[in-house]
Amino acid sequence: MRVDSMKKRVFIIVLDSFGVGELPDAAEWNDEGSNTLGAVRGHEDFFCPTMTKLGLFNIDGVGGGIRKPMGTFAKLSEVSKGKDSTIGHWELGGILSPEPLPTYPEGFPPEIIEEFERQTGRKVLANKPYSGTDVIRDFGREHVKTGALIVYTSADSVFQIAAHEDVVPVEELYRYCEIARKILVGKHGVARVIARPFTGEWPYTRTANRHDFSLEPPQETVNDRLKGAGYDVISVGKIYDLFGGRGFTEFTRTKSNVNGMEVTLEIEDRDFNGLCFTNLVDFDMTYGHRNDIAGYAKALSVFDRQLAVFLEKMRPDDLLIVTADHGCDPATPSTDHSREYVPMLLYGKHVRQGLNLHTRGCFADVCATVLAYFGVEKGETAGTSFLQEALSAAAFLPEDAPDDRTLYRLALEAREKAYTPYSHYRVGAALLTAEGRVYTGCNIENAAYTPTVCAERTAFFKAVSEGERRFAKIAIAGGREGEISSFCAPCGVCRQVMAEFCDEDFILVLGGLDEVREYRLSEILPEMFTKKEL
Ligand code: THU
Repeated sequence: MRVDSMKKRVFIIVLDSFGVGELPDAAEWNDEGSNTLGAVRGHEDFFCPTMTKLGLFNIDGVGGGIRKPMGTFAKLSEVSKGKDSTIGHWELGGILSPEPLPTYPEGFPPEIIEEFERQTGRKVLANKPYSGTDVIRDFGREHVKTGALIVYTSADSVFQIAAHEDVVPVEELYRYCEIARKILVGKHGVARVIARPFTGEWPYTRTANRHDFSLEPPQETVNDRLKGAGYDVISVGKIYDLFGGRGFTEFTRTKSNVNGMEVTLEIEDRDFNGLCFTNLVDFDMTYGHRNDIAGYAKALSVFDRQLAVFLEKMRPDDLLIVTADHGCDPATPSTDHSREYVPMLLYGKHVRQGLNLHTRGCFADVCATVLAYFGVEKGETAGTSFLQEALSAAAFLPEDAPDDRTLYRLALEAREKAYTPYSHYRVGAALLTAEGRVYTGCNIENAAYTPTVCAERTAFFKAVSEGERRFAKIAIAGGREGEISSFCAPCGVCRQVMAEFCDEDFILVLGGLDEVREYRLSEILPEMFTKKEL
């Protein structure tokens, strides 16, 4: 993989409301002690081996981690003053919001309502926080009689307009929503204006023609940056709406978590070059807000199975990020969102295995990392990339670095120089630095036997003595004198030297003339003893 090559794909999957424990300022949000994962992980229907393997339980403070997670993991702090999906996704996308989106516990102020009445030519009823079904029961008849619009809100940043489809045709209701959307900007920039049509006889029923009109993000996002640079930006689920429809090349709305993952799995089978950004909202909408612990646990287990299928199909240049936008602890009396850390699980062929990035300063680090992966400038977006730490050195090799076959050939050439009067076993090695430079080595024997140095160590010590410290790969070619070359694995001492200078995912290119295969250092030296232990 080359960081600047084409055909790279990043998949971000947002498990809506999947927090991993209270943020330090949770008390200011009345969320002390909230922990969404903590609330569901003990349920008998919770079974998430895939996320466990990626490192979910190895995240600081989560507890119960495994010894060798496959992914890089962290928990992310929310900097923005909000705990809703819009603010959370915007932060993932690179926008830090110093102010929460406005809410209206007393209803909307007269200047908003009067302007809305003036532009629609209709009076307003209700204008306060209300349950959607209660509001049409209590005000529906008056609406049908007078044609006045039912305007209500909730604990969220929403301006909702309910109208009977026979009194206000749906298209007209949508036009009123657009009017409201234009009025509700600046300090009254609510997250969403929502059309809530209903039908039938009192007490009436709501129809499926609900429609959301979201606020456009106030600044550039990861989506805008990528789309602007010519990449595909594909939305799955409500991502498109959360970003006000801006910055996408394609979008699919989904019916459920399962459907959202099905769509994501289909997109995984396609060739595209860019970002697939998925939101799975059932965790929040169906289970978190309803304090349904069992439902939440089951939904995670179902997702985990679909995630296993996703991992199987990943391509070498794919990155997967599983994260969340806020918490919604189903075990607390509150049915509202909770102010929590969110998990960040990163996986891919070149992602460091078992790397703990600990606690990151903001969700926007996801944006910065994705942009860095595509080599796109940050522009106005916030966040600090963790790409350098999280990917192995092999991921950053320059375009013109030798490929595995070429590196093996260089090892074969180096083998020509082997000095082996005693064993007649000849080995050559070609060591590739992260910057793409090659150092070769051969084995050098000695009449006293023990001073003998292997080919791999010759190459390493040449490189290290020239100041090299970051290594991507080594190819090894060996065999008895007269033999062309056969499979030759490094000896234990050489493996230990590799463990000194390389990460667990340092790549060994082993094989013969016909075929070479890549091995990770962690595969051939499991449970290694390194400087980390000292
Ligand atoms: N040898 C290497 O050069 N590399 C290895 O990893 C295995 C062994 C050399 C050392 C010695 O000169 C000969 O092979 C026989 O052990």
